[in-house]
Amino acid sequence: MAGSVQQDRRARPGIVIARAVFPEVVERLAQHFDVLANQQDALWTPSQLAQALQGRAGLFCTASERVDADLLQACPALRICANMAVGFNNFDLDAMTARGVLGTNAPGVLTETTADFGFALLMATARRVCESEHYLRSGQWTRWRYDMFAGSDIHGATLGIIGMGRIGQAIARRGAFGFGMRVLYHNRTRLGPEVEAACGARYVERDALLAQSDHVMLVLPYSAQSHHTIGAAELARMKPTATLVNIARGGIVDDGALARALREGRIAAAGLDVFEGEPQVHPELLQVPNVVLTPHIASASVPTRRAMADLAADNLVAYLTGGTPVTPLNPIVLSRGAPA
Ligand code: GLV
Repeated sequence: MAGSVQQDRRARPGIVIARAVFPEVVERLAQHFDVLANQQDALWTPSQLAQALQGRAGLFCTASERVDADLLQACPALRICANMAVGFNNFDLDAMTARGVLGTNAPGVLTETTADFGFALLMATARRVCESEHYLRSGQWTRWRYDMFAGSDIHGATLGIIGMGRIGQAIARRGAFGFGMRVLYHNRTRLGPEVEAACGARYVERDALLAQSDHVMLVLPYSAQSHHTIGAAELARMKPTATLVNIARGGIVDDGALARALREGRIAAAGLDVFEGEPQVHPELLQVPNVVLTPHIASASVPTRRAMADLAADNLVAYLTGGTPVTPLNPIVLSRGAPA
């Protein structure tokens, strides 16, 4: 088992911090709990995680750790799993609720940072930043040409956003009011007129968004319903000059279909921060030049990652010391009374 911070266990709830995190956050949690912290960031198997959790009430985890019925059954003392992520498709929330285990996530604190990154990836993709940097570094730049790495414009273009929660809205504001874009969106539920006006965005059906947008940005949560929201049929509806950016979750795009569309020039380019089966990346995506690939870093500014860790810690401290968790996902568990 990886390195641990062991404290006096008398009368202190035990928690596991499943991945390396800011030392200050480990120290803060150790003031309240008997902490087993994986600060060496060993890659635990599900059974190693279950073993670490034996007799412990709390789990501090990231979106990489799966909390499912098997883990819950193996860890009967577990009362709360605090995700250091806004997305929580790593949680089987129904199984957690059935077992009286609270789930919490980290919304809000990463909204603006993630929206910034959506634009960073969009601009790198549309303006071919990575391809051209590779060309320069590899010594191929011997003279300037009028059409070298000519891409597509951001300003004045049509941006289509699928998924219009907090982050989608922050991206829309940047597009409409920062870059003078025409912003379309599609969402399960249409936003109210004041919210649409504040985002400078217009609701359209998904097919219309795909057909009209110069740039399509995916910001929707992953679920069985959103699996392969973008596959071969949807890619075929997009403009051949369009770019696609996925900062949401792997599995929302059919990565194999996307690699083929990029290779065959059916869309111009893609920017991907998330992948089906990450950290594995579809091998065909690695072969096409017109895709920018980043390792799931959309929320990775230092202050934001710290705020996410602090929020996960706030949830653990509050719930396991008799207070009210800040961002509960299945608050029905709270109404059943305080944890033992
Ligand atoms: C990151 O992907 C998150 O869900 O916070």
